[in-house]
Amino acid sequence: MGTTDEEIEIRIYDRRIDRTRVEDLERKCEVGPGENIFLFTNTMGDPLCRIRNSPLYIMLVAELHAELVGVIQGSIKITTLGCSPPTDKAIMGYILGLRVLPPHRRKGIGMALVRKLEGWFVANGVDFAYMATEKDNKASLKLFTQKLGFLKFRTPSILVNPVRYHAMRLSPNVNIVKLNIQQAERLYRRFMSKAEFFPNDIDRILKNRLNLGTWVAYHREESWCCKFDINSDSDSSFPTSWAMLSVWNSGDIFKLRVGKAPMSCIMFSKTSRLIDCVFPCMNLATLPNVFDPFGFYFMYGLHHEGPRAGKLVHSLCRMVHNMAIEGGGDCKVVVTEVEDSKTLRLNIPHSEQLSCSEDLWCIKALKMSEENKHRLNGVIRAPHPRTLFVDPREV
Ligand SMILES: CC(C)(COP(=O)(O)OP(=O)(O)OC[C@H]1O[C@@H](n2cnc3c(N)ncnc32)[C@H](O)[C@@H]1OP(=O)(O)O)[C@@H](O)C(=O)NCCC(=O)NCCS
Repeated sequence: MGTTDEEIEIRIYDRRIDRTRVEDLERKCEVGPGENIFLFTNTMGDPLCRIRNSPLYIMLVAELHAELVGVIQGSIKITTLGCSPPTDKAIMGYILGLRVLPPHRRKGIGMALVRKLEGWFVANGVDFAYMATEKDNKASLKLFTQKLGFLKFRTPSILVNPVRYHAMRLSPNVNIVKLNIQQAERLYRRFMSKAEFFPNDIDRILKNRLNLGTWVAYHREESWCCKFDINSDSDSSFPTSWAMLSVWNSGDIFKLRVGKAPMSCIMFSKTSRLIDCVFPCMNLATLPNVFDPFGFYFMYGLHHEGPRAGKLVHSLCRMVHNMAIEGGGDCKVVVTEVEDSKTLRLNIPHSEQLSCSEDLWCIKALKMSEENKHRLNGVIRAPHPRTLFVDPREV
């Protein structure tokens, strides 16, 4: 049954009147990882928690006859796009958190929400909109690719490593050093600014309270010198092989908890993309203590240089795993998302059972200038880039 555009009211989220209604809607959006098992998310009273750390953001709600029936969120930032020229920057609008109440689906509400958000993007000068979904989400894929003109363009993997009870052994032949924020920013701008989706405001991410730090690893027989020239192409001051990564404490903004519930009490919520993609295929028995609320660390900005960097990536990931234990908090899984790079996949400890091999990213040009058409073609046709910068604010 269709609904006319006049009947659907779409407006900006108003915390005073919408907070509990949005949380309620999230809970009613079904899908669980197993029969009678439900995954609860706790946004700790802040439905905006996934976008709040972005430079510019919005949440829209859809009302039908005074009932809140749909939500969508969007954020805007400047990133690197594509590889030609490699420093090409674009204003990007990210679409996330689209939900429509099950009894009101197929009435055009989802599409109306996306169109309204696209309007906000255009008003704010956005060049391209993009979104990510699990590859099996037929409804979402049909809506975005067939109705709204989005194009599939990347299929990175989400890798999940459960935190075990015992620390993982670290190689005595590898040195790991924590960088300060300025050093980390300089290193990222020097080595990752050409990576697809590298954010212009990397400094804001690194300074965010959720960022636990940036580390580099190198082989013990070499040394690390942070005094390099950001404008120089010479890598002479670096070890022959090295790796770096940063860690984001996602558990500080929302918690996950698995609960068994009777079918009459459907309380499953899909607040996070991680949940959208990974948890439906997850064997929860392999996770420790998931019936208590738990958080997760997200590793981002993984970069490696040199022929022996694989082992260094591995050491850094093991260190993050041990940090999760030592933190004494509730971090039960360490997660990362990488483009299908063999070196990274092979060296990032993860459970195949818990990981999701294909997250699907789709893109659309909103400013259809000749230049943007050309850039979009470049992005779609480009071979998958070696590095994709997955912004921790968008997990
Ligand atoms: C995806 C979702 C938001 C769609 O909302 P909706 O209001 O039902 O979508 P619309 O009515 O605007 O649908 C527009 C078009 O999308 C496609 N579509 C929507 N739902 C579909 C489904 N279940 N199966 C196949 N195509 C579907 C159709 O092409 C549809 O047009 P049509 O009805 O003329 O055939 C909704 O199903 C939902 O909340 N799903 C759970 C959360 C989710 O997966 N969110 C997306 C994360 S990116």
